[in-house]
Amino acid sequence: MNAPLPRYSRITGTGSYLPPNRLTNDDLAAQMAKDGIETSDQWIVERTGIRARHFAAPEVCCSDLALVAAQRALEAADCDAASIDLIIVATSTPDMVFPSAACLLQQKLGVHGCAAFDVQAVCSGFVYALTVADSMIRTGAARKALVIGAEVFSRILDFSDRNTCVLFGDGAGAVVLEASDTPGVLATELHADGRHVNILCVPGTVSGGKVLGDPLLKMDGQAVFKLAVGVLEDVARSVIEKAGRTADDVDWLIPHQANIRILQSTTKRLKMPLDKLIVTVDQHGNTSAASIPLALDEAVRGGKIKPGDTVLLEGVGGGFTWGAVLLDL
Ligand code: ACO
Repeated sequence: MNAPLPRYSRITGTGSYLPPNRLTNDDLAAQMAKDGIETSDQWIVERTGIRARHFAAPEVCCSDLALVAAQRALEAADCDAASIDLIIVATSTPDMVFPSAACLLQQKLGVHGCAAFDVQAVCSGFVYALTVADSMIRTGAARKALVIGAEVFSRILDFSDRNTCVLFGDGAGAVVLEASDTPGVLATELHADGRHVNILCVPGTVSGGKVLGDPLLKMDGQAVFKLAVGVLEDVARSVIEKAGRTADDVDWLIPHQANIRILQSTTKRLKMPLDKLIVTVDQHGNTSAASIPLALDEAVRGGKIKPGDTVLLEGVGGGFTWGAVLLDL
């Protein structure tokens, strides 16, 4: 007889990694000034809340950042890499066109044979990856997953475009997600709307041995802002209701760390006190798919988020994509 399917998946360990090269707004402004581009710490802080970001060294790839975050999550979960049977990396900046960053990471972890693939949903990537891993665990396709968000967005930034290059940073965050009879992930919800492809994109591609089109990030900031606050409120309400909980039951809110004004506005729309909001965008910038697991790990290691707390993770990004995961830690 088959073993009964687990009722839940549960996070048993978190980890993260930021590359050591940290640039404050003043550092970045000084670098941009060399090319005649003007910006300031005051403008960046007032509009975004960002004070610093980390950039990976040129030889460091997505899977290198993912490796350290994964190792830290495995250690926190007291789990041997060999027992992992699923690796999902959420990224829009993989090491190469293929194989996936997940396969490269698997090799770097020295484990072989388990399923490994990337999920590409830009800044919603981690929420997408966690939802896929949760589904695979609850259907019995996996029992112990590594779910990672890892990005080197510095590689796709146009440093002559002050509208975008001040916003992003590099980093990685990871969780170990295991089959469990106790919660766990309570509810998940994913969405996408391809009508908004053009408001946030990297339109270039590789073809015939050349880069075709523009391989650098383009964004209509105000359009993104308006869409983001609306969908983050809607998906939060929906996933909380799906789980049979209320907003008051949520101990911590971790939205994708894009911009402090989006984060605060989402929290207020949900009528949640601002002290339930986890903020790392000030120190990390926007690390796309890495931002949520990075923030989660920092809050866990910093002692803010404790075992048993109810946490709402919310992603929003290019595609346009968005989604949420409500979980008990
Ligand atoms: N330094 C100085 N001045 C700047 C900079 C800069 N880095 N960037 C733009 N400006 C100038 C503009 O040129 C403009 O000048 P002008 O009035 O002389 O034309 C002025 O500042 C205002 O520009 P706006 O684009 O209107 O500024 P806005 O208040 O909309 O802020 C921002 C821009 C921060 C991007 C905002 O639209 C925003 O937060 N959007 C959300 C997008 C976001 O967070 N994206 C992250 C990725 S998407 C995601 O993760 C979901």
